Amino acid sequence: MAKKNQTLGEFIIENQSDFQYSSGELSRLLNSIRLAAKVVNHEVNKAGLVDITGAAGDTNIQGEDQQKLDVYANDVFIQTMTDRNIVCGIASEEEDDFITINSQDELHQNKYVVLIDPLDGSSNIDVNVSVGTIFSIFRRITPVGTPVALKDFLQTGDKQVAAGYVVYGTSTMLVYTTGKGVNGFTLNPALGSWYLSHPNMQFPVDGQIYSVNEGNYLDFPEGIKKYIKYCQSEEEDRPYTSRYIGSLVSDFHRNMIKGGIYMYPKSTKNPKGKLRLLYECSPMAFIAEQANGVASDGYKRIMEIMPTELHQRVPFICGSKNMVEKAEEFMLKFKE
Ligand code: AHG
Ligand code: MN
Ligand code: MN
Repeated sequence: MAKKNQTLGEFIIENQSDFQYSSGELSRLLNSIRLAAKVVNHEVNKAGLVDITGAAGDTNIQGEDQQKLDVYANDVFIQTMTDRNIVCGIASEEEDDFITINSQDELHQNKYVVLIDPLDGSSNIDVNVSVGTIFSIFRRITPVGTPVALKDFLQTGDKQVAAGYVVYGTSTMLVYTTGKGVNGFTLNPALGSWYLSHPNMQFPVDGQIYSVNEGNYLDFPEGIKKYIKYCQSEEEDRPYTSRYIGSLVSDFHRNMIKGGIYMYPKSTKNPKGKLRLLYECSPMAFIAEQANGVASDGYKRIMEIMPTELHQRVPFICGSKNMVEKAEEFMLKFKE
């Protein structure tokens, strides 16, 4: 139950008993994420002051330029969780393969794996626009005591135990779900504490904002083109407006609060879509559904898609229920 002035630490402990037979492992894991997020926040805030931005001269497995802060955030999250020995494996958008964590005393005793997009929207860093972190937590499938395997990471979204994001914005927020609704905590930077500022977050059933990179319009599937035209049409006084930051976390966060739809469809350039199923879409879908929203690849629930590879991409349509269902209607009607 949300309490006034409650901190994230208090909230995590208080809600631990939601999980039957809880041993506190998930709570410790969430605590390490909250700590790493503060460290990354501190560095993101300084990005304009120190010479830390700019491509690190490396490209990740998907052939994209890596920014220095991507590497930094990746290291902080992995190191924080590894040092505390609270997960058995980590997969990151910035790593080619998953990482196996060994406990010093007993091998592979931990239950959870984490998948993470350490810095989302990294092209926004140089221009002082919000970026984020996205995380997804699963219980391992392989038995405790054995090393993690690829199949521990390749699970459908509906098997997630927890998922969340951090938005490093005008204020820094950590928003997460463990399957019992969505709660948002705002960082008080002076104290270094997160306070429950947005209890029980909900997507409005309908919204007015559509968020899509219209620069790719000519390459979009017919259904998406028709849906965009529907939003733009003056018929029946349609109230829609367009907002696109280019950072999924920020676009999603705004749309959840105000009501809206985010779309990253497939295109000629990205025939399977651009966003990653495991690091971006699946956790955002879990949060969306827990907040009364919908997440779809245009035809089916993101949460039901069985991944076949770590860095898999997927078309993504997510947000207010009525808007996503309308977009799906167009996708079906103009199926190619
Ligand atoms: P990342 O910075 O982790 O690679 O993610 C960027 C993603 C997502 O956050 C954003 O919505 C989208 O890419 C923007 O893509 P376009 O620049 O093609 O619109
Ligand atoms: Mn991303
Ligand atoms: Mn990223």
